[in-house]
Amino acid sequence: MALSEQFLTQIRDSNEISSVMSSYVNLKRAGRDSVCLCPFHSEKTASCHIYGDTQSFYCFGCGAGGDVITFIRLIERLDYLESVRFLAQRAGIPMPEDSFDRGAQMRQRLLEINREAARFFRDILISDKGIEGRKYLYGRGLTDNTIRKYGLGYAPESWDTLKKHMLSKGFDEGELTDAALLSKNQKGHTYDKFRHRVMFPIIDRRGNIIAFGGRALDADAPAKYLNSDETPVFHKRSSLFSLNFAKNTKEKFLILCEGYMDVISLNQAGFDNAVATLGTAITPEQARLMHQYCEQVVISYDSDGAGQKATMKAINLLAEAGIEAKVLQMTGAKDPDEYVKKYGADGFRMLLQQSGGAISFELRKLTSGLDMDSPEGKASYLKKAINLLADVDNRIDRMVYISDTAKLCGMTSGEIDKAVEERRRYRSSNAKKEEKKNLINPPRRQEGTNGAASAHTARQKAERGVIAFMLHSPDLLPKIEAELLGEDFTEGFYRNLYNCIAQRIKNGGSLELSSLGDEFSAQEMGKITGIIQENNLLPYQKERLREYIGVLIKSRDRYGGKKPQEMSDDELRQEMEKLRTEKMKIRN
Ligand code: UTP
Ligand code: MN
Repeated sequence: MALSEQFLTQIRDSNEISSVMSSYVNLKRAGRDSVCLCPFHSEKTASCHIYGDTQSFYCFGCGAGGDVITFIRLIERLDYLESVRFLAQRAGIPMPEDSFDRGAQMRQRLLEINREAARFFRDILISDKGIEGRKYLYGRGLTDNTIRKYGLGYAPESWDTLKKHMLSKGFDEGELTDAALLSKNQKGHTYDKFRHRVMFPIIDRRGNIIAFGGRALDADAPAKYLNSDETPVFHKRSSLFSLNFAKNTKEKFLILCEGYMDVISLNQAGFDNAVATLGTAITPEQARLMHQYCEQVVISYDSDGAGQKATMKAINLLAEAGIEAKVLQMTGAKDPDEYVKKYGADGFRMLLQQSGGAISFELRKLTSGLDMDSPEGKASYLKKAINLLADVDNRIDRMVYISDTAKLCGMTSGEIDKAVEERRRYRSSNAKKEEKKNLINPPRRQEGTNGAASAHTARQKAERGVIAFMLHSPDLLPKIEAELLGEDFTEGFYRNLYNCIAQRIKNGGSLELSSLGDEFSAQEMGKITGIIQENNLLPYQKERLREYIGVLIKSRDRYGGKKPQEMSDDELRQEMEKLRTEKMKIRN
């Protein structure tokens, strides 16, 4: 839903940023502005600034920043719209009706369809026609309570039972196909997608039923699990099964499983913090979603090869999202569902307590395929292990892993420690050499997510500068566009930002931070605020803009990837001509 500029102004005006922030942090006045200890990273001296005039905040330590809506997104871990709603409530302003929004109306309708279908599947499960489904679920050890809690159901062995029911409720074939409940054959005839399957409703964190997973009852069915296709209300990449329960857990971590049944069995055993992806490997979106609720995830994938391979990927993805990943090691069962049935809740709790960090997991993995009883196997393991151990910077952590490794190889910790320290010294002397080399010939630094702390190359400075100018003086857009293209911005984020701002200037759209938040993530809002703050320190003079544009034009890949000696005479002439006009433009 696009919110009107008028409404956003109202939200902004009635939620003064320092007054909102003061209920989360201790503000100290510093001249016109205020500072505080940044709530988004740990620090001892205040580096988070709150600017009254731009109604924004910016942390020079971690690069978090934005307007009051961004602040709420970060601190309350809400999405953009939820944050606006939060602030509207705080100020006692009603949210605008979104009934006029056709997209929202359609999504509403799809959710109604799903709710009705879930009710229907559930009713069938508890009726005479549902006996096979009930038998199956009881056979897997689920109680009536659990079946009710998850709203499980049964889709009967028929081509049109659901279809007939839904038509009788006033939904049409088109809508039901859009909801991915009906499939279409080549002749265009629609039929029930889910047949003779137990049905697992997939529920988002607001409690909406957004899709279904269906498990085949026949062992020889073409697919063991069938999931709804993507619809306007169902995006596999950013959904997690059972997050509607897990988000309310008292635990400080989430348990990440592979399957529906793992999650449900764990829940029945009292672990309400389990979630699962939906038949795909974990995505960055899902990792970020988890990070809204926890700092730690225990990966609890199947114990087979595929599960272990997926674990490695998940560790990396979670780390990228800022989550500490731990890995649960399971023996004696193929998945958490089987484990908890065999060894009970206490058994599984023990596994959770014993779950180690990513390093333990990697160390263990190094042994796979090696005969650890042979000297060759041990030696080969040790070489790799020492390399890995040398990566662990914390001395105490390192000692713990070293002692594990020592035990595994029948050596003393001292011996391994010596080898690891040697490796670290060798690396740091190499790093010093590298540093010296870089001092003479500085490498280009890539901008990381931490916009504040990383230095910018001349080119990045120019890209950031041009963007700041557009926000500051939108009337200069025609001048800028006469010289630059979106492609002149090297990094995807800057390019998007440039295009977005240019588009907004042309459409008379808002350039306020609070409305940019609709298109950019909270992290990106920090970068944008950083750009503004950094550039506000300098006067907005045309010479400065001209200089930035000059830098960007100069660094163009002007030969289209070809070396001059590879060009035809014509191409070469054209390039020379381009260069000449660029130079003239800069001079003017
Ligand atoms: P598994 O095959 O490990 O499922 O697939 P499971 O939970 O052990 O199945 P049960 O215990 O035999 O019932 C894990 C997940 O992968 C997806 C499903 O989301 C499933 O929960 N999957 C699996 C599919 O989407 N399609 C399939 O055919 C199989
Ligand atoms: Mn299973």
